[in-house]
Amino acid sequence: MKNIGLFFGSDTGNTENVANKIAAHLGLEAQDIAGNSSDIFDDYDFLILGTPTANYGEMQPDWDYFVPELEDADLNGKTVALFGLGDQVDYPDSFLDAMGDLAELIEQAGGQLVGAWSTEGYDFNDSRAVKDGQFVGLALDEDRQPELTDSRISTWLTQLGLAQ
Ligand SMILES: Cc1cc2nc3c(=O)[nH]c(=O)nc-3n(C[C@H](O)[C@H](O)[C@H](O)COP(=O)(O)O)c2cc1C
Repeated sequence: MKNIGLFFGSDTGNTENVANKIAAHLGLEAQDIAGNSSDIFDDYDFLILGTPTANYGEMQPDWDYFVPELEDADLNGKTVALFGLGDQVDYPDSFLDAMGDLAELIEQAGGQLVGAWSTEGYDFNDSRAVKDGQFVGLALDEDRQPELTDSRISTWLTQLGLAQ
């Protein structure tokens, strides 16, 4: 059994709600990244990290504050799956950008990313979260497609081999 740590940052609660849904699937507690240092990852070999994109392509402030911790972190040997929240209608040119930025930091720290997700079913112009034609993690839009969130979570967890 993998030892899974689930962390999120959230401004208005959407990412926290989604993190709690994923946590309920997995039978664990979602933890707020706010105020933590990188040693919180030490106990886990599988990390699930969730972030919204804030302020036209920026990282959510708690994740932004955590960036120096990530730059110092050693994630070698850890598997990391990301989920991102955004709004493809109001922010089509920076849809889910912060998930892409987080992915880059994770890879620089030696983490192995899993959980890439198809871009089919989304309508946007540009996203730093797209790499090799796929999102680097689960793409969720609670503003425009909230009705798809539950099924997307289930499908993604199945793809990750984490469905119970
Ligand atoms: C001022 C502002 C700027 C935003 N900028 C972006 C953006 O650049 N790209 C994007 O995909 N979503 C953007 N969003 C949408 C949020 O990411 C989305 O509403 C998300 O669900 C918020 O998650 P939270 O409640 O966990 O903070 C923005 C929202 C606000 C209010």
